[in-house]
Amino acid sequence: MAPRVIDTGHGTRIVAGWSVLDGIAGLLPVRDERRGVAVLAQPTVTGPAARVAAALHAGGYVVVEVELADGEAAKELAALDVVFRRLNDAGLTRGDTIVAVGGGAATDAAGFVAATYLRGIEAVYVPTTLLAAVDAAIGGKTAVNLGGKNLVGAVAPPALVVIDEEVLAALPPRLLAQGHAEALKAGYVGDPELVAVYARSGPAVPLDVVVARAVALKVGIVDRDLREHGVRAWLNLGHTVGHAVEIVAGTSHGEAVAIGMVAAAEASRLVTGFEWRDQLEDVLRRLGLPVRAAGVKAGEVVALMALDKKRGRSGLRMVVLEGVGRPRLVTVDDATVRAALAAIDVW
Ligand SMILES: NC(=O)c1ccc[n+]([C@@H]2O[C@H](COP(=O)([O-])OP(=O)(O)OC[C@H]3O[C@@H](n4cnc5c(N)ncnc54)[C@H](O)[C@@H]3O)[C@@H](O)[C@H]2O)c1
Ligand SMILES: [Zn+2]
Repeated sequence: MAPRVIDTGHGTRIVAGWSVLDGIAGLLPVRDERRGVAVLAQPTVTGPAARVAAALHAGGYVVVEVELADGEAAKELAALDVVFRRLNDAGLTRGDTIVAVGGGAATDAAGFVAATYLRGIEAVYVPTTLLAAVDAAIGGKTAVNLGGKNLVGAVAPPALVVIDEEVLAALPPRLLAQGHAEALKAGYVGDPELVAVYARSGPAVPLDVVVARAVALKVGIVDRDLREHGVRAWLNLGHTVGHAVEIVAGTSHGEAVAIGMVAAAEASRLVTGFEWRDQLEDVLRRLGLPVRAAGVKAGEVVALMALDKKRGRSGLRMVVLEGVGRPRLVTVDDATVRAALAAIDVW
């Protein structure tokens, strides 16, 4: 099947399909000044990274391969010092390109490097987790951590995102499930048909459908609001509580978002009267995702949520639903927060 192409309104072309990464050299925007390409890859994806490097080499580029630290360790500023020096030593110039190969931690970190090296050079992402393909690689946010998550970063959309569904189809089940959590979130935020597909198919949901629909939903929202002044906040459904659980319990991002959505469903029931928790929990369980954060202390979660508030927001804010595909950003009172946490066994 021919690759599917989406040209976004924020400067990114997205190409998705089976084995598309072998054609990456021909997908790069045409620019005479590009000589070198640096491939920044996670240590777990040496296979795809080697294929990307080989394809770029065959396309006539000088290829510099740089290994990133794995997972969140790649998003430490200290780890990036080494990466910046490698690029400089290799003579990478303003006209050249950085290609990130890996999950969301790699696209966030390499995207930040591309946004800042020589004050910004071209970035290309090859997301290798479903979560990165439907979420982290889409929308132009790059970030590194500073104690707290994502405290330093830039909005700098990549020129190109290459989503290889052959790579995604080979993901270990747990990593795949984490991506389904974000894709399902996209469905609840704005694509009732995607939610229906998940409810019908559970883990047998076709990957190309998930990628196409979840990416299109996020692109549509980001095109309306690149810098999150308004509707982009809807994508934070499940993330207010989810981020706190992620930090307190050390849960993976996708699993924390699954749990956070259950809390958001309980908050929805209280704020708008819309009930979606039973359906949500059923789908999450079938996908192998957690729905409770037993053992996590409410006090710690609330303290982290309050910390977010101090960074300039008025009151605790959460995204709730008035219906499937009808999100609303609301200020919630303490009683609602406590009830939402009780729903996930956090007391
Ligand atoms: N910028 C954004 O808008 C945005 C949105 C959502 C999430 N994020 C960020 O994305 C990150 C989470 O993404 P993630 O879940 O992809 O995390 P990750 O990049 O840490 O990947 C998870 C693990 O999977 C491994 N991995 C990657 N591809 C693989 C493959 N094909 N086969 C086997 N293992 C593979 C990685 O090496 C890592 O150990 C977080 O840092 C989060 O903050 C960013
Ligand atoms: Zn997320």
